[in-house]
Amino acid sequence: MATTAEYGIGEFTFPRGWFMVGESKDATEKPIPLRYFGRDMIMYRGASGRVVVMDAYCPHMKTHLAKNETSYIVLDGQQIEGDDIRCPYHAWKFGPDGKCNEIPYSPAPIPKAAKIRSFPVREWGGLILIWHDEEENEPDFEPHALPEWDDPKWVNWRVDHLGTLDCHPQEIIDNMTDKAHLGPIHGSTDMEYFESECKDHVIRQVLAAGHRTLSDEVMTNDTWYTGPGILLSRMNGYYSSLMMICHTPIEDGSLRAWHGLMVEPPNYPMNDEDKAAVPAFQEGSKMALLQDFDVWANKAPCLSIMQVVGDGPFGKARAWYKQFYNPRKDAKKYQAKSNGHWVTKGTKRDPWVEAAE
Ligand code: FES
Ligand SMILES: [Fe+2]
Repeated sequence: MATTAEYGIGEFTFPRGWFMVGESKDATEKPIPLRYFGRDMIMYRGASGRVVVMDAYCPHMKTHLAKNETSYIVLDGQQIEGDDIRCPYHAWKFGPDGKCNEIPYSPAPIPKAAKIRSFPVREWGGLILIWHDEEENEPDFEPHALPEWDDPKWVNWRVDHLGTLDCHPQEIIDNMTDKAHLGPIHGSTDMEYFESECKDHVIRQVLAAGHRTLSDEVMTNDTWYTGPGILLSRMNGYYSSLMMICHTPIEDGSLRAWHGLMVEPPNYPMNDEDKAAVPAFQEGSKMALLQDFDVWANKAPCLSIMQVVGDGPFGKARAWYKQFYNPRKDAKKYQAKSNGHWVTKGTKRDPWVEAAE
């Protein structure tokens, strides 16, 4: 495991962007502890349905807000009030913005510093996403739209918890432009085209090739990250599908990852063949990712890549990734270094993308 500083990615330890921290079903009126971005955090769902994610420790005397089973505040079910949360120790109450709005026993004004850092939250495809930003600014982009989630013709993903990796997310991002691993790891033969594109906070890879784990035929894939932590991949074959991979830093140099696959079967409603094929396809997609995992879980950190002709544009992807580890005012500088279409030697461009230019 190596750190952000050892990779030389930027001045921040953790990236800016949207990141998964749990599933919608994990957010209830019982606050739960989380640990991401090297910090202890908590999550709960207020009475209005709003999900709140904030730092774990009360500013009064540093009590953990979600690790108490014996305070009468907790036992009497008084911890969540509307969308607010009460500390188990002395009952200070905090709004979803993290500001203290009541100290039950103190007649004095509430100190300005009585505030907990709260993170912007989105519910997206049954997942809880937070905006992490070391500068604590509001989001400057949104997660990719997901109309398939509410479309009855699509079978929604169930989330596969892939566990933790002692691996810096840089190594996962490298996969985005890694043309040469597609044959050995995914059994991709007969590659018709492979092209990478960086456009501001989005990095994309389009390819058409065989995929031994998933399909006997040539598949087209359109895969993109919206920011540094959420990947979607549209795969077209007999079954159209949309894959999600989320990964979120835990400490500097480790991460937790999840996978899911939504499928649009050829028949609506599904016939018996579809009903058997959809879960098999979801499982196959997970297995394909675990083939990458097998490498990531055991490799040493690659601080600089020994690039050869025929490798994908790793340098462009690494430059793209830096925008999220540096002050927002410098993001354009890194985007200027990576924006564009990049074609790997030995492959062709996506004819559709080329024609559209
Ligand atoms: S420690 Fe939280 S209210 Fe005192
Ligand atoms: Fe891969």
